Amino acid sequence: MVGGSLDAFIGEVHRKAAALDSKFDLVCGAFSSNPEKSKATGKALGLNPERSYNSYIEMIETEAKLPADERMEVVSIVTPNHVHFDPARLALEHGFHVIIDKPLAFSLDEAVELKKVVDESGLILALTHTYTGYPMIKEARHYVRSGKIGEVRKIYVEYPQGWLSTPLEKDGNKQASWRTDPAKSGEGGAIGDIGTHAANLAEYVTGINISELSADVNITVKDRLLDDDSAALLRFNNGATGVLMATQIAAGEENDLKLRVYGEKGGLEWTHSDPNTLLFKPLDGPVQKLRAGTGYLSEAATLNTRTPAGHPEGYLEAFANLYVAFHRAVTDHSNGELKPLDEYDFPDVNDGVRGMAFVATMVASNKSDKKWTKFVV
Ligand SMILES: NC(=O)c1ccc[n+]([C@@H]2O[C@H](COP(=O)([O-])OP(=O)(O)OC[C@H]3O[C@@H](n4cnc5c(N)ncnc54)[C@H](O)[C@@H]3O)[C@@H](O)[C@H]2O)c1
Repeated sequence: MVGGSLDAFIGEVHRKAAALDSKFDLVCGAFSSNPEKSKATGKALGLNPERSYNSYIEMIETEAKLPADERMEVVSIVTPNHVHFDPARLALEHGFHVIIDKPLAFSLDEAVELKKVVDESGLILALTHTYTGYPMIKEARHYVRSGKIGEVRKIYVEYPQGWLSTPLEKDGNKQASWRTDPAKSGEGGAIGDIGTHAANLAEYVTGINISELSADVNITVKDRLLDDDSAALLRFNNGATGVLMATQIAAGEENDLKLRVYGEKGGLEWTHSDPNTLLFKPLDGPVQKLRAGTGYLSEAATLNTRTPAGHPEGYLEAFANLYVAFHRAVTDHSNGELKPLDEYDFPDVNDGVRGMAFVATMVASNKSDKKWTKFVV
């Protein structure tokens, strides 16, 4: 693991997710840019002290020299955005698969470069767009794919959070301070942090891509350096239109990502505050409330559920579903039986490049008088 010291947010979530299905063991890490914090984290996690490294460079180079049956197999990268590209490239160049948090990189240029490295290496890179791991999101995708709502015409995706309503970054909040710093977050604030999740979820469920957008990107909190509030009108490559909202200053909101998709024959609605429910709204019939863990769901939803109906699963399980899918691909790769990556059903480097293109297009559209701006990939 790179990143994920004891005071970090998402590193611990990755550790729990990776461990949930006993597919991965944590064997080593460079958990912080501060060697002492890295060692202290390794100690607290019960690692062999020799494998708590001072830096990710030392970790990757040292592990690569170990015998094949001893060295790490995959690297989780859970650092702020400006420390994504270098460790990912170095890991791939030394023969290690990568599972990395979003957004893929600091900039679109870095993302495009990283895709080249992945393609040349023949190795696997998974990107943890968490929300794609939920069983009822799999079901929504299945409904679209199997034609139950007809051709998609309208998509609304909303991602309101409230935690950046005040200048938290000035109070030393670790997570707020790098997210609002252009040197660490990149050119996007909220658009990179949560807008990329929203855009990815809309594309994942519907199977269509955003082709152009018209954005309004704002800095609400005084003296903040990056956007904390945004909205965009979307056009998709099949002619569908949509609306996306990603804001971190919706005071009182927690993390209520919500997706609504409407086709010619009906609609679907999913919300993160009730993730085990999917509403199906047919044009000519009553609303149906579909529930996780039931016998009537698709294979994809069932494959991503561990407990029977009425036993709630949530964020950690959705995250773990990405690790399980990644593990299937890694195992097939080592057996020389890797199938096309789409078949494993996890976000990959192509989604990561699209995420960075989303950020770049939102920024470009916001600055433009013309407003409608084409997606560059
Ligand atoms: N998938 C999701 O839902 C989700 C949720 C939260 C965060 N994230 C993403 O995860 C990443 C980390 O976010 P976070 O909230 O956990 O941040 P954080 O600030 O809580 O943790 C970052 C960690 O990286 C470490 N770090 C920084 N530079 C390093 C270096 N050079 N070498 C080794 N470690 C280093 C820090 O010490 C810290 O442990 C970001 O890219 C963020 O966008 C994704």
